[in-house]
Amino acid sequence: MAITCNCPMSQPGPTLAATCGGGAFMLFMGLLEVFLRSQCDLEDPCGRTQYRRHMDSVYDFIVIGGGSAGSVVASRLSEVPEWRVLLLEAGFDEPTGAQVPSMFLNFIGSSIDWGYHTEPEPAACLSEKDRKCYWPRGKVLGGTSVMNGMMYIRGSRKDYDDWAAAGNEGWSYEEVLPYFMKSEDNKQIEEMDKGYHATGGPLTVSQFPYHPPLSYSIIKAGEELGYQVRDLNGEAHTGFSIAQTTNRNGSRISVARAFLRPAKNRPNLHVMLNATVTKVLINQTTRQAYAVEVRNSFGGTEVIFANNEIILSGGAVASPQILQLSGIGDPEVLSRAGVRLVHKLPAVGRNLHNHVAHFLNFHVNDNNTTPLNWATAMEYLLFRDGLMSGTGISEVTALINTKYANPEEDNPDVQLFFGGFLADCAKTGMVGEKLGDGSRSVQMFPAVLHPKSRGRLEIASSDPFAYPKIYANYLTHPDDVKTLIEGIKFAIKLSETKTLKKYGMKLDKTPVKGCEKFKFGCDAYWECAVRMQTAPENHQAGSCKMGPRGDPTAVVDNLLQVQGIDRLRVADASVMPAVTSGNTNAPTVMIGERAADFIKKRWLGGTTVPYPLNNEGGVSNVLSVSESRYPGWQRWA
Ligand SMILES: Cc1cc2nc3c(=O)[nH]c(=O)nc-3n(C[C@H](O)[C@H](O)[C@H](O)COP(=O)(O)OP(=O)(O)OC[C@H]3O[C@@H](n4cnc5c(N)ncnc54)[C@H](O)[C@@H]3O)c2cc1C
Ligand SMILES: *[C@@H]1O[C@H](CO)[C@@H](O)[C@H](O)[C@H]1NC(C)=O
Ligand SMILES: *[C@@H]1O[C@H](CO)[C@@H](O)[C@H](O)[C@H]1NC(C)=O
Ligand SMILES: *[C@@H]1O[C@H](CO)[C@@H](O)[C@H](O)[C@H]1NC(C)=O
Ligand SMILES: *[C@@H]1O[C@H](CO)[C@@H](O)[C@H](O)[C@H]1NC(C)=O
Repeated sequence: MAITCNCPMSQPGPTLAATCGGGAFMLFMGLLEVFLRSQCDLEDPCGRTQYRRHMDSVYDFIVIGGGSAGSVVASRLSEVPEWRVLLLEAGFDEPTGAQVPSMFLNFIGSSIDWGYHTEPEPAACLSEKDRKCYWPRGKVLGGTSVMNGMMYIRGSRKDYDDWAAAGNEGWSYEEVLPYFMKSEDNKQIEEMDKGYHATGGPLTVSQFPYHPPLSYSIIKAGEELGYQVRDLNGEAHTGFSIAQTTNRNGSRISVARAFLRPAKNRPNLHVMLNATVTKVLINQTTRQAYAVEVRNSFGGTEVIFANNEIILSGGAVASPQILQLSGIGDPEVLSRAGVRLVHKLPAVGRNLHNHVAHFLNFHVNDNNTTPLNWATAMEYLLFRDGLMSGTGISEVTALINTKYANPEEDNPDVQLFFGGFLADCAKTGMVGEKLGDGSRSVQMFPAVLHPKSRGRLEIASSDPFAYPKIYANYLTHPDDVKTLIEGIKFAIKLSETKTLKKYGMKLDKTPVKGCEKFKFGCDAYWECAVRMQTAPENHQAGSCKMGPRGDPTAVVDNLLQVQGIDRLRVADASVMPAVTSGNTNAPTVMIGERAADFIKKRWLGGTTVPYPLNNEGGVSNVLSVSESRYPGWQRWA
């Protein structure tokens, strides 16, 4: 059968040249983009959505936000052919350039980034303008999985066992592991720990095709310090690794590419782009959520009804914001903002937290690494290999124990991230363009994995387009500072190993501005440095905390249902009671898988899904219901 599709004439979203600053980058980056778009797997024109109006004003399920969790929920719910599912996403489809791993930082600050700023911080981000920290978040189908570093890290066993111990039945490590595996299509399963990985799921997991030589040296340096190089998602969670990532053959697999594109021919799944949900409507008599209010692409406001459930997957910022806009939250916050109280739930927006980091600059001798030029571009275009097919040394990570952690627990308290060797922007594509004198800088970012500081988020007005006020409160708990300083010392120790000395790795000792009065390297200096130059991680969580029914600090119960309201769930990183020990994309996908299963159990009964999945539990494209059963329902795509 011939595949016909309407390829959009021009693509929404920022071009590569624009993400490099336009001007001088126009020619080379513009040409590179033309070549990238000619590649079927990257451009994937037939897989892209076209914006169109939804076909009806009633659906069975409405999912708000097509990010890491929402894409999974919409995909899994629409496996049930009888269910009509609508996914509402504020952004558009992902730009081609975002699929190139080495360009992963380019899109921060572009039009696919919500670009939040916190309120002035009391104890962190002090050197930023107005003491505000920057929070990038994806505003695009696929959400933040379109602009993240792709690292696939699940967190430690203890993270989930602690969630369960806090009264969240069903969330222990043993119970969540099958849901990680349900999503997974691990391309290197032979090399990974047995019993922890799976193939055949929709989410491709694999190391990048290309590793800069320094990546291997870093993990060797970790061994020199007594850490094992291992599968951090397997038997143990402490060690060094060239991480597996969500890439397929050198191209980013966002959650939208993994979960939504394979479902694009389902007649019962509609995706509405450029559609911003402004509130969820609750029936005050039945205490049930029954509809959403949306600002559509034509600037009009419409109400769309849900027969069964509404699932809020806006992420750790937008989910509590939308609840508050809907009148669910702290009565004081709502009255200040001029929103009528529908349901008192003071915990909404509280418990907001995130990993917190500091970046250290190092110099290495390196005079033979190629930058982004025609040769690296051709290597990528022809073979999906070379510098463009990975994230440089950002592919390496370490989960380590400072003196404050109990190594017996296998629950590391610091994660080390790396930066450098990115083939991102180039002006001419000529060899040698970015090569300096044989020295280049690389970065290490130690991040506190179990932060004790807690922030909060509240709407400032009833205007759904106004950004909420975010109080991150980084480093307000002294233990977070202490742990971060130990992380810094570890990073420096790593740079002083024999292995990395061979690269001439040297800490850049330029004092952080404002900290010159302290002796470089003493604890007081580092405390000043982390407060001045705070590097918030991008793992915001906890603002719609999961907890037992009746717990005043909880927003949702263990089935992710908003407490006190029926037919409304939250599924995204905001439900984590405490953020996991690592990057948060894989745990959020898992939360989406669980939410879909809870919903299927409620509405279909039984303990398993009585509809055919493919053999490995992946996305099934087999529909048993003919489209004619739903006259007027058009295909999505
Ligand atoms: C720069 C960066 C690097 C990162 N690197 C990694 C990494 O390497 N590995 C990793 O595991 N994690 C990483 N993360 C974190 C990870 O990507 C996020 O934790 C995860 O994607 C969050 O998923 P979510 O579903 O909670 O929210 P999101 O994925 O942000 O989804 C929320 C969606 O809701 C939409 N939305 C919001 N409001 C509305 C509204 N009113 N109406 C309609 N739609 C709305 C948004 O546009 C968005 O699409 C990184 C994050 C960033 C920013
Ligand atoms: C709320 O539910 C009641 C009882 O089912 C119904 O009579 C009423 O019309 C509903 N109100 C709205 C606004 O839907
Ligand atoms: C997106 O929606 C807004 C209204 O909410 C509208 O003004 C804008 O033109 C839309 N963009 C596109 C490309 O349709
Ligand atoms: C390149 O670096 C190596 C190792 O630091 C050094 O021995 C060599 O002289 C350098 N070559 C050039 C041309 O700078
Ligand atoms: C990866 O992509 C390249 C270029 O399109 C292609 O030649 C190669 O066969 C692909 N490899 C795999 C494993 O799909």
